[in-house]
Amino acid sequence: MLYKLLMVIILFTGVSLVQAQSDFKYIGANKCKTCHKKPKTGEQFKIWKEGPHADAYNMLSSEKALKVAKEKGIADPSKAEECLKCHSTYFKHKDQLDKKTKLTLEEGVSCESCHGPGSAYKKKKIMKDQKLAISKGLIIPDEKTCQKCHNENSPTMKEFDFEKAKDKIKHPRPKKK
Ligand code: HEC
Ligand code: HEC
Ligand code: HEC
Ligand code: HEC
Repeated sequence: MLYKLLMVIILFTGVSLVQAQSDFKYIGANKCKTCHKKPKTGEQFKIWKEGPHADAYNMLSSEKALKVAKEKGIADPSKAEECLKCHSTYFKHKDQLDKKTKLTLEEGVSCESCHGPGSAYKKKKIMKDQKLAISKGLIIPDEKTCQKCHNENSPTMKEFDFEKAKDKIKHPRPKKK
């Protein structure tokens, strides 16, 4: 009896967790920017903006991308699902946008592709409490997060060394003195 009751509780909470996941919506990098732009706290927005991921959509219009696409019989990679699914957060999650989202196709691989959709964790009070933020959809990215895109389905795949790659895109908060 006790066992059955436990199963019911586990099932129930399990199901409600799944539902909550899809309640988290994508809000776009410009929302994160409000709080993550200051040099004092690590200017994550600027570092991301100047790094490879913010450019991932635009680069689908480059000579190189056109060549890669042509080999697959794709005329315009900037319009093709086969490319956009990894090169644009907006494209991949266009069914899960917040009503007031700032996310655009052009912002390429945005914060939320690595950190999870931000609608429920974006409040300052929640963000300051890591455990609470994670329960509201925040992801602290690990190797698996990257491998959603850095894998053999990428037509230009090179070897992926997580530690090196992480170092290339790092945007830490400065250590408190
Ligand atoms: C209203 C302000 C605000 C907004 C908007 C905001 N953040 Fe934060 N974020 C914070 C604060 C404050 C912290 C905690 C900093 C600290 O404790 O030093 C934080 C911490 C974080 C951390 C580190 C969490 C940890 O515990 O290691 C990540 C990752 C993060 N934010 C990502 C994002 C992303 C992605 C977005 C947009 C989807 C976003 N934030 C939007 C204020 C904000
Ligand atoms: C949603 C897909 C996606 C995710 C998730 C992702 N990336 Fe990327 N990444 C890309 C794309 C697309 C490019 C190419 C963009 C360009 O060159 O304009 C790229 C380029 C890079 C580059 C520069 C090229 C290179 O190989 O040196 C580094 C470094 C990198 N990613 C590291 C990471 C790390 C570390 C993670 C996980 C924490 C990660 N990426 C997660 C899609 C993704
Ligand atoms: C499975 C995810 C994924 C898919 C699908 C994908 N890409 Fe990428 N793309 C990446 C990642 C990750 C990188 C950065 C590292 C690398 O080259 O593997 C990248 C980098 C690139 C680069 C830059 C390579 C370089 O050496 O600078 C080009 C060009 C490119 N992609 C074009 C395309 C085109 C065109 C398509 C569609 C036919 C496509 N990609 C589909 C994930 C993907
Ligand atoms: C390609 C994946 C990727 C993207 C895109 C990305 N981040 Fe991160 N972010 C990471 C990784 C990896 C870490 C380090 C996690 C750890 O502590 O191991 C990190 C850490 C952070 C931290 C905590 C820094 C610290 O020292 O505690 C903040 C804040 C943050 N990111 C905000 C952002 C914001 C804001 C954006 C967009 C403007 C963004 N990130 C885009 C992968 C990403």
